[in-house]
Amino acid sequence: MPISDLVIYKPDCIRFILLLLSRKCLTLTICVEMAFEIDNLPYAYDALEPYIDEQTMRLHHDKHYAGYTNKLNSAIEGTALAGQSIVDIFSDLDMDQAAVRNNGGGYYNHSLFWKVMGPGKGGEPTGALRGAIDRAFGSFRGFRGEFSQAAATRFGSGWAWLCVRNGGALCICSTPNQDNPLMPGGCEGMPILGLDVWEHSYYLKYQNRRLEYIENFFNVINWDCVSQLYEENKQA
Ligand SMILES: [Fe+2]
Repeated sequence: MPISDLVIYKPDCIRFILLLLSRKCLTLTICVEMAFEIDNLPYAYDALEPYIDEQTMRLHHDKHYAGYTNKLNSAIEGTALAGQSIVDIFSDLDMDQAAVRNNGGGYYNHSLFWKVMGPGKGGEPTGALRGAIDRAFGSFRGFRGEFSQAAATRFGSGWAWLCVRNGGALCICSTPNQDNPLMPGGCEGMPILGLDVWEHSYYLKYQNRRLEYIENFFNVINWDCVSQLYEENKQA
Protein backbone atom coordinates (compact mmCIF):
# COMPACT_ATOMS: atom_id res chain seq x y z
CA MET A 1 0.00 0.00 0.00
CA PRO A 2 2.18 2.88 -1.21
CA ILE A 3 1.68 6.35 0.07
CA SER A 4 1.12 8.22 -3.17
CA ASP A 5 1.00 11.74 -1.84
CA LEU A 6 1.62 13.85 1.20
CA VAL A 7 -0.06 17.23 1.31
CA ILE A 8 0.41 19.81 4.04
CA TYR A 9 -2.69 21.99 3.76
CA LYS A 10 -2.75 23.66 7.15
CA PRO A 11 0.15 24.65 9.39
CA ASP A 12 -1.00 22.28 12.06
CA CYS A 13 -2.41 19.46 9.96
CA ILE A 14 -0.98 16.87 7.69
CA ARG A 15 -3.10 14.96 5.17
CA PHE A 16 -2.04 11.59 4.01
CA ILE A 17 -3.67 10.28 0.85
CA LEU A 18 -3.32 6.60 0.55
CA LEU A 19 -3.85 5.03 -2.83
CA LEU A 20 -5.13 1.59 -2.31
CA LEU A 21 -4.44 -1.27 -4.67
CA SER A 22 -8.17 -1.37 -5.38
CA ARG A 23 -7.84 2.17 -6.78
CA LYS A 24 -9.98 3.56 -4.02
CA CYS A 25 -8.62 6.51 -2.14
CA LEU A 26 -8.57 6.87 1.59
CA THR A 27 -7.81 10.26 3.09
CA LEU A 28 -6.44 10.31 6.57
CA THR A 29 -6.05 13.67 8.27
CA ILE A 30 -3.95 13.99 11.37
CA CYS A 31 -3.93 17.25 13.29
CA VAL A 32 -0.98 17.79 15.55
CA GLU A 33 -0.40 20.50 18.13
CA MET A 34 2.53 22.66 17.12
CA ALA A 35 4.88 23.28 19.99
CA PHE A 36 6.63 26.56 20.65
CA GLU A 37 10.16 26.34 19.30
CA ILE A 38 13.45 27.40 20.81
CA ASP A 39 14.76 30.18 18.57
CA ASN A 40 18.44 29.99 17.70
CA LEU A 41 20.50 33.01 18.63
CA PRO A 42 20.81 35.24 15.54
CA TYR A 43 24.55 35.60 16.30
CA ALA A 44 27.34 33.63 17.98
CA TYR A 45 27.39 33.10 21.73
CA ASP A 46 30.44 35.36 22.03
CA ALA A 47 29.21 38.01 19.58
CA LEU A 48 28.10 40.44 22.28
CA GLU A 49 31.47 40.46 24.01
CA PRO A 50 32.75 42.40 25.85
CA TYR A 51 29.36 43.68 27.03
CA ILE A 52 27.67 40.32 27.53
CA ASP A 53 29.99 37.37 27.95
CA GLU A 54 29.89 34.05 26.10
CA GLN A 55 29.36 31.87 29.16
CA THR A 56 26.36 33.91 30.25
CA MET A 57 24.86 33.71 26.77
CA ARG A 58 25.33 29.93 26.60
CA LEU A 59 23.68 29.33 29.96
CA HIS A 60 21.01 31.95 29.40
CA HIS A 61 19.94 30.65 25.99
CA ASP A 62 20.61 26.92 26.24
CA LYS A 63 19.49 26.34 29.82
CA HIS A 64 17.18 29.09 31.06
CA TYR A 65 15.36 29.97 27.83
CA ALA A 66 15.23 26.38 26.62
CA GLY A 67 13.88 25.35 30.01
CA TYR A 68 11.08 27.92 29.91
CA THR A 69 10.13 26.89 26.38
CA ASN A 70 10.05 23.18 27.13
CA LYS A 71 8.05 23.69 30.33
CA LEU A 72 5.58 25.94 28.49
CA ASN A 73 4.96 23.20 25.95
CA SER A 74 4.46 20.69 28.72
CA ALA A 75 2.06 23.02 30.55
CA ILE A 76 -0.25 23.57 27.57
CA GLU A 77 -0.06 20.14 25.99
CA GLY A 78 -3.52 18.67 25.66
CA THR A 79 -5.23 21.82 26.93
CA ALA A 80 -7.36 24.44 25.16
CA LEU A 81 -4.27 26.67 25.00
CA ALA A 82 -2.41 24.31 22.69
CA GLY A 83 -2.30 25.71 19.17
CA GLN A 84 -2.95 29.31 20.24
CA SER A 85 -0.40 32.04 19.61
CA ILE A 86 1.54 33.17 22.63
CA VAL A 87 -0.03 36.65 22.37
CA ASP A 88 -3.51 35.10 22.42
CA ILE A 89 -2.54 33.00 25.43
CA PHE A 90 -1.42 36.13 27.29
CA SER A 91 -4.51 38.14 26.36
CA ASP A 92 -6.81 35.89 28.37
CA LEU A 93 -4.31 34.47 30.81
CA ASP A 94 -5.38 33.23 34.22
CA MET A 95 -2.59 34.73 36.32
CA ASP A 96 -3.08 31.94 38.85
CA GLN A 97 -1.89 29.46 36.23
CA ALA A 98 1.71 29.69 37.39
CA ALA A 99 3.20 27.24 34.90
CA VAL A 100 1.79 29.05 31.85
CA ARG A 101 2.38 32.52 33.31
CA ASN A 102 6.02 31.92 34.26
CA ASN A 103 7.12 29.72 31.40
CA GLY A 104 5.04 31.49 28.76
CA GLY A 105 6.59 34.75 29.85
CA GLY A 106 10.02 33.18 29.93
CA TYR A 107 9.56 31.92 26.37
CA TYR A 108 8.18 35.16 24.91
CA ASN A 109 10.40 37.60 26.79
CA HIS A 110 13.63 35.88 25.88
CA SER A 111 12.60 35.31 22.26
CA LEU A 112 12.29 39.09 21.98
CA PHE A 113 15.44 39.76 24.00
CA TRP A 114 17.71 37.82 21.62
CA LYS A 115 16.34 39.71 18.62
CA VAL A 116 16.75 43.22 19.96
CA MET A 117 20.47 42.77 20.56
CA GLY A 118 23.30 42.31 18.10
CA PRO A 119 27.04 42.67 17.62
CA GLY A 120 28.31 46.03 16.43
CA LYS A 121 25.01 47.70 17.32
CA GLY A 122 24.15 50.37 19.87
CA GLY A 123 24.09 54.02 18.94
CA GLU A 124 20.79 55.82 18.62
CA PRO A 125 17.59 55.09 16.69
CA THR A 126 16.57 57.10 13.65
CA GLY A 127 13.46 57.68 11.58
CA ALA A 128 9.92 57.32 12.88
CA LEU A 129 10.99 55.54 16.05
CA ARG A 130 13.37 58.36 16.93
CA GLY A 131 10.57 60.86 16.44
CA ALA A 132 8.30 58.87 18.74
CA ILE A 133 11.04 58.66 21.37
CA ASP A 134 11.63 62.40 21.25
CA ARG A 135 7.90 63.08 21.59
CA ALA A 136 7.46 60.70 24.53
CA PHE A 137 10.64 61.35 26.49
CA GLY A 138 11.92 64.70 25.25
CA SER A 139 15.11 63.26 23.77
CA PHE A 140 17.06 60.03 23.41
CA ARG A 141 18.90 60.98 26.57
CA GLY A 142 15.56 61.31 28.34
CA PHE A 143 14.48 57.89 27.08
CA ARG A 144 17.75 56.30 28.12
CA GLY A 145 17.47 57.70 31.61
CA GLU A 146 13.87 56.60 32.10
CA PHE A 147 14.43 53.12 30.67
CA SER A 148 17.56 52.63 32.78
CA GLN A 149 15.67 53.77 35.86
CA ALA A 150 12.93 51.21 35.21
CA ALA A 151 15.53 48.46 34.90
CA ALA A 152 17.59 49.56 37.89
CA THR A 153 14.67 49.91 40.28
CA ARG A 154 12.98 46.60 39.47
CA PHE A 155 13.27 44.88 42.84
CA GLY A 156 14.49 41.31 42.52
CA SER A 157 13.99 39.70 39.11
CA GLY A 158 12.12 41.13 36.15
CA TRP A 159 12.21 43.15 32.97
CA ALA A 160 12.21 46.71 31.68
CA TRP A 161 10.16 47.40 28.54
CA LEU A 162 9.70 49.93 25.80
CA CYS A 163 6.22 49.46 24.35
CA VAL A 164 4.19 50.96 21.55
CA ARG A 165 0.48 51.62 21.88
CA ASN A 166 -2.10 51.84 19.13
CA GLY A 167 -1.40 55.08 17.29
CA GLY A 168 2.35 54.95 17.80
CA ALA A 169 2.79 56.45 21.26
CA LEU A 170 5.57 54.93 23.35
CA CYS A 171 5.68 54.03 27.03
CA ILE A 172 8.18 52.50 29.43
CA CYS A 173 7.25 50.03 32.13
CA SER A 174 8.68 47.25 34.25
CA THR A 175 7.31 43.85 35.19
CA PRO A 176 8.32 41.35 37.90
CA ASN A 177 9.61 37.83 37.32
CA GLN A 178 8.66 36.63 33.80
CA ASP A 179 5.52 38.75 33.51
CA ASN A 180 5.25 41.11 30.55
CA PRO A 181 3.06 43.98 29.30
CA LEU A 182 0.81 41.66 27.28
CA MET A 183 -0.48 39.90 30.38
CA PRO A 184 -3.51 41.11 32.35
CA GLY A 185 -2.56 44.21 34.33
CA GLY A 186 0.25 45.12 31.93
CA CYS A 187 0.79 48.55 30.40
CA GLU A 188 -1.37 47.68 27.39
CA GLY A 189 1.40 48.20 24.88
CA MET A 190 3.23 45.87 22.52
CA PRO A 191 6.83 45.34 23.69
CA ILE A 192 9.43 46.40 21.11
CA LEU A 193 12.46 46.41 23.44
CA GLY A 194 13.04 44.40 26.59
CA LEU A 195 15.89 44.21 29.06
CA ASP A 196 16.26 41.16 31.26
CA VAL A 197 17.41 42.11 34.76
CA TRP A 198 17.29 38.64 36.27
CA GLU A 199 20.66 37.91 37.87
CA HIS A 200 21.11 34.97 35.47
CA SER A 201 21.48 37.55 32.67
CA TYR A 202 24.47 39.39 34.15
CA TYR A 203 25.79 37.98 37.42
CA LEU A 204 28.69 35.91 36.03
CA LYS A 205 30.29 39.01 34.53
CA TYR A 206 28.92 41.88 36.57
CA GLN A 207 28.13 40.23 39.95
CA ASN A 208 26.03 42.79 41.85
CA ARG A 209 26.78 45.66 39.43
CA ARG A 210 23.40 45.77 37.68
CA LEU A 211 23.83 49.44 36.78
CA GLU A 212 26.97 48.65 34.77
CA TYR A 213 25.14 45.86 32.92
CA ILE A 214 22.28 48.25 32.11
CA GLU A 215 24.74 50.88 30.87
CA ASN A 216 26.45 48.37 28.59
CA PHE A 217 23.15 47.03 27.24
CA PHE A 218 22.91 50.23 25.22
CA ASN A 219 26.03 49.12 23.29
CA VAL A 220 24.24 46.05 21.90
CA ILE A 221 20.71 47.30 21.20
CA ASN A 222 19.72 46.51 17.63
CA TRP A 223 17.77 49.65 16.79
CA ASP A 224 17.03 48.42 13.27
CA CYS A 225 15.08 45.54 14.80
CA VAL A 226 13.36 47.78 17.36
CA SER A 227 12.38 50.19 14.58
CA GLN A 228 10.94 47.33 12.54
CA LEU A 229 8.89 46.17 15.53
CA TYR A 230 7.70 49.74 16.03
CA GLU A 231 6.53 49.98 12.41
CA GLU A 232 4.82 46.58 12.58
CA ASN A 233 2.92 47.33 15.79
CA LYS A 234 2.22 51.06 15.91
CA GLN A 235 -1.21 50.63 14.33
CA ALA A 236 -1.99 47.22 15.79
FE1 LIG B 1 16.67 35.61 31.38
